[in-house]
Amino acid sequence: MTARLANKRAIVTGAGRGIGRAIAAAFLREGARVVLNDINASLLEEAVAALDPDPQQYRTVTADVSDPVAVRELVAQAREAFGGVDVLVNNAGIGGIGKTLLELSLDEWHRMIEVDLTSVFLCCQAVVPLMIEQGRGSIINISSITGVEGTAGSIPYAAAKAGVIGLTKSLAKEVAQHRINVNAIAPGLIDTEMSRARGQEQSRKAVLWPRIGQPEDIAWLAVYLASDESEFMTGQVLGINGGARM
Ligand SMILES: NC(=O)c1ccc[n+]([C@@H]2O[C@H](COP(=O)([O-])OP(=O)(O)OC[C@H]3O[C@@H](n4cnc5c(N)ncnc54)[C@H](O)[C@@H]3O)[C@@H](O)[C@H]2O)c1
Repeated sequence: MTARLANKRAIVTGAGRGIGRAIAAAFLREGARVVLNDINASLLEEAVAALDPDPQQYRTVTADVSDPVAVRELVAQAREAFGGVDVLVNNAGIGGIGKTLLELSLDEWHRMIEVDLTSVFLCCQAVVPLMIEQGRGSIINISSITGVEGTAGSIPYAAAKAGVIGLTKSLAKEVAQHRINVNAIAPGLIDTEMSRARGQEQSRKAVLWPRIGQPEDIAWLAVYLASDESEFMTGQVLGINGGARM
């Protein structure tokens, strides 16, 4: 074990599967203590069974990160378990549903904004006071290539993910003085349940690399952003997309 994250205490939202699970796995391998969150308790159980971490090194908290009360409880449990939070990864999200502007209902718009954007606001608001107290912290927000360039059939998703970029940059400016760095990762096509459900054909055409992305491609960057090696990097949006966008 290289233990690049020894002494780091992290929360990873949406860690039950996909990119969040890969980030939690990489953090655990690098020696971090990790609170794995997901809205789905059985996905969390599966993740823990697959990762098989040292029981001292992790907790699971089932919570809907779009619910302000649940988010406060999530952060309180992380603090109780490990005494603080050094790294917050806002990864939980739901994907575009393939409906155009005229097909979308207001409820569908609201739900996607709540889960993909309001959750990031809530988790940051709950964690930043601890990070200020500690005098250091790293926040990693998972946006999307769709938040940068848009995708037909993904209006609320694109709006939420573009919102995550605006939130990231504004918060980075607010908290730099406290040595809290805030960055966004904008993945392109990554092979997960989310992209399989939506269909990968269209996005695959834009990928220049001779394979599509894997959750681990995102996890390696998350390890760097969670480590002190990246502390002078803040307010950045880092694309990982196999050359789909440069
Ligand atoms: N897969 C891609 O191609 C891709 C591309 C760009 C960005 N992203 C982003 O990466 C992140 C992870 O996506 P993924 O592909 O791993 O998706 P996924 O659907 O495989 O995993 C998402 C996880 O988040 C959980 N989740 C959903 N709503 C939640 C809530 N309200 N509270 C807590 N947990 C919740 C789900 O249960 C699931 O375990 C998302 O923010 C997504 O928008 C994915």
